[in-house]
Formats: sequence, C-alpha cells, structure tokens
Amino acid sequence: MYSRRAGARAFRAAEVAILPLATEKEPTMTITSTTKRQPTDFATAVERLSKVSVDRHFDAYIDVAWDDPEMAIDPEDPRFELWLDDPLRHTKWYATQPPETRSRVAVHRVATAMRIGWEFENVLQRGLLEHAYWMDGKKPELRYLMHEIAEECQHMLMFQEFANRTGMDIRGMPRHMKLASRLVVVLARTFPAAFFMFVLAGEDPVDYIQRKQLKEGGSHPATERIMRIHVTEEARHIAFARHYLRREVPRLHRLRRRQLAVMAPLIFGTMARLMAFPSLHTARTFGVLRSDLRRALRSAPGRLLLREVAAGPRKLCVELGLAGFPYSLLWRVMGIWETSEPATTTPEVDPENDTA
Ligand SMILES: [Fe+2]
Ligand SMILES: [Fe+2]
Repeated sequence: MYSRRAGARAFRAAEVAILPLATEKEPTMTITSTTKRQPTDFATAVERLSKVSVDRHFDAYIDVAWDDPEMAIDPEDPRFELWLDDPLRHTKWYATQPPETRSRVAVHRVATAMRIGWEFENVLQRGLLEHAYWMDGKKPELRYLMHEIAEECQHMLMFQEFANRTGMDIRGMPRHMKLASRLVVVLARTFPAAFFMFVLAGEDPVDYIQRKQLKEGGSHPATERIMRIHVTEEARHIAFARHYLRREVPRLHRLRRRQLAVMAPLIFGTMARLMAFPSLHTARTFGVLRSDLRRALRSAPGRLLLREVAAGPRKLCVELGLAGFPYSLLWRVMGIWETSEPATTTPEVDPENDTA
C-alpha cells in the first residue's frame, strides 16, 4: 500500500532539481507473467498512483505565473532557441538565420509541439473515457483513470495558453492524423492493449524530449515550468500504461498478441515522428525547403533522435515478447530498432520522486 512516508517524500521532492535520466526507476513491482499475486500487485500500484495524484497535482492557472514579466512570451526573445537535438537546428538554413528569426522558429516549434500535445491528449481522454465507461466502479483503475483525465485537462489548458500567447498561427497534427485518431477511440473499447500502446507512443517520446531539455537547461522560463509540471504528472500516466500492458499482454490470445506485435512498431514509429520531428507547417512558415527538412530528418542525428525517443517502448515490447523476429523487421523498417543500447535511454519513471 501507499505509505505516508512515501507521500511526504514526494512533497519534499518538489523543490529538488530534476533527476538525471539514468537514475530514474519505475516503482516497485515487476509484472511479467500471470501469477496469483498479479491482480493484488496491480491494484496496489494503481491505488498508489491515485494517492500520488491527490498529493501532487497542478493547476494550469495557479501553478504557472503567466503574467510574471519574466514569463512573457515574446517570439523574438533570444531565450528561445531550438533545443540541441532538434533536426532543424542542424540545418545550414538555421545556422544562417539572424537571432530574431531563430527565436521565432523556436517559439513556433515549441508551440506547435504543445498544440499537437493538446490534440493527442484530447484523443487520449476520449479513449480513457470510453475504456472506463464499462468498467466496474469498484476497480481501483477507474478512480486512477479519472485522476489521469483531470490532469490531462490541466495540461491541455497550459499548452493552449502557451500557443495563444505566442500570437502566431499555430497548427497541430496533419488532417489525416486527426481523422485517423477516431479509430484510436474505438480501439480503447475493442482492443485496450493496442490503445494503451498508443498512449505510450505519444507520452513516452514527449517525456524523453522534455526530460532531456530540462537536463540541458537554458529553456525559456514558461517552457521550463510547463515541462516540469508535465513530466511530473506524465510519470504516473506512463507508469500506469506500462503496468497495464505488463498485466494484459500475457493474458491475450496468441492471435491477438500477433496483431499487437504488428501494430506496435507502426504505432510507435508514426507517433515518434509526430512527437519528435518539426512539423511541415513550421518549415513552410519560415520558408525552409522541403528537401532541407527531409535531409535533416534523414541525417544521422535525426535518425538517432527517432531511435532514442522510441527506446523505452521498444524495451517494453521486447520484454513482453512482441518484438522478436519477424516483427523486429518492422521496427527496423520504421527506423526505431537499435541493435546496441542507445547513448540515453527513455527513463523508467518514478511517479513518487519525480519533481516539478
Ligand atoms: Fe499530459
Ligand atoms: Fe498523460
């Protein structure tokens, strides 16, 4: 069960700098097979996540000092700069731009990522509501899912407020992806394991990118505050999705597992690109040639970024027996397979000790 000491530890962690990626661990339990203890362990972990959600949650308009002059979002503020691993930053085009244009590109880039985050979380909430609708009210995961949906509402408020304050024309996902997202909501009812793969596919890459940027430092204070709040709460969401998959995948019929093994690299490959790469709209807005953008995305740093943001989900799929041959070929085709360990792996999160 969740202890009072653990709750106090989580509160104390609030003012501590974010943990290095390598030291972060997922909480306590390991569920890799169907055993008698499994349901109890899953329930305990979920109850603990619910308790931490009560102890540590944020409000978009209380916990972000939007009107503090330090937090003002001016598109030409030199504090805005593309983060080190952004493929656009490695283009000759970016290097030749004056500082004010570089700042505008960075603001547009981060606001677009936030708008995409808003749309992803909208789909996620609809799927979670669909998944929870038929659930027995006594199940601990029903309460946890309600906490998660409420937290995503606050994230969406933060993301949209940031995008609006840029005063720029910000667009999110391409139209075809918005239309395809309706299928994801259907999956939440008909194939929940695939739906939670989608959840991880959106949350894990963003979490990886935000943690790495926080570790590097130097972000604009508004971006930094939003990222700190987000990684703190996403730690719980990612932990829940991983626990759910560790419990459910071994229980699936073998044909269902094969379906999932085919779907996983397609979902993770598509979502990794959506979350980690600059959008076509950002490139068009600033006159970046399509060929320059393509070259940047296919460059060694671009391909490495893609593999790194998908490293956590890939590791989980290997553990669940979903990424063996011939399915590993699909991971290679999607550009998210790595034969050796990447330099930095996606963090295994600890929802109690993460900081904001
Ligand atoms: Fe979120
Ligand atoms: Fe989330």
